[in-house]
Amino acid sequence: MRSLINITDLSVEEIEELISVANDIIANPEKYREKCRYKKLAALFFEPSTRTRLSFEAAMLELGGSVLGFSEAQSSSAAKGESVADTAKTVSCYADIIAMRHPKEGAPMVAMMNASIPVINAGDGGHNHPTQTLTDLLTISREKGSLNNFTIGFCGDLKFGRTVHSLITALSRYENIKIYLISPEELKLPSYVKNDVLKKNNIEYIQTTNLEEAIPNLDILYMTRVQRERFFNEEDYLRLKDRYILTPEKLIGAKEDLCIMHPLPRVNEISPSIDNDKRACYFKQVLNGKFIRMALILKLLEVE
Ligand code: CP
Repeated sequence: MRSLINITDLSVEEIEELISVANDIIANPEKYREKCRYKKLAALFFEPSTRTRLSFEAAMLELGGSVLGFSEAQSSSAAKGESVADTAKTVSCYADIIAMRHPKEGAPMVAMMNASIPVINAGDGGHNHPTQTLTDLLTISREKGSLNNFTIGFCGDLKFGRTVHSLITALSRYENIKIYLISPEELKLPSYVKNDVLKKNNIEYIQTTNLEEAIPNLDILYMTRVQRERFFNEEDYLRLKDRYILTPEKLIGAKEDLCIMHPLPRVNEISPSIDNDKRACYFKQVLNGKFIRMALILKLLEVE
């Protein structure tokens, strides 16, 4: 039985296979309508979500399965003090697969160790978000035609942004990737990601605070939100939240085929006036998230 807790739980070949299945689902959705008939997905969301929860639910429904679960800790027995381990054992009696989001780093791992069904990490604190990474990889593959040979800039909250940590980890296994890390000093990429992923894999990277200077060099710009919920101090959040706002003026020197990504939700980081620019890919990412999660559910449930 397989689960997905970190993106490295999947080999490069398995990611390629998931992308291939997702592309086939996009091309031939009718083939997949009954694949998960009588199967149930439990969506256990202890933290707010729009895209991840609803795309998991839509994915299972489009595969012919059913969904159950909760969208906030307060409506589960976690509010009465039940542990993640007991929740996982309980839900294993009712469902075939779990997607779990939790504010505590490592909670989905604890669930996996106690569940008798596959567990998918749908985001754990400031740590990891592997299914967003699969979404991002499918988007890059569809937009750029390859997961090798490009320069990507990550901009914003690189300290708490779990999607950034997971995607950098995933990209470290591909060829000829150059990375710009664009953030305020206070929100720099954690040293464990820098040392254990970038340095260890000899990935070329440049750290800067200057978005405008980096933009002309980029094939992909990955904007992120400053993660208010992870700050200890509201003053720091208010000081940093609008540090980077992508506007049409800032794109004047950008490449014609730049791919602008954002895991969303956005607050102020990308001006809505960019939404109709052909380089804006963030709502394509949203849609791709459903298809790659369909492919992942099929794989973990071992559906042919
Ligand atoms: N990208 C993402 O995780 O969005 P949600 O928080 O809305 O699920």
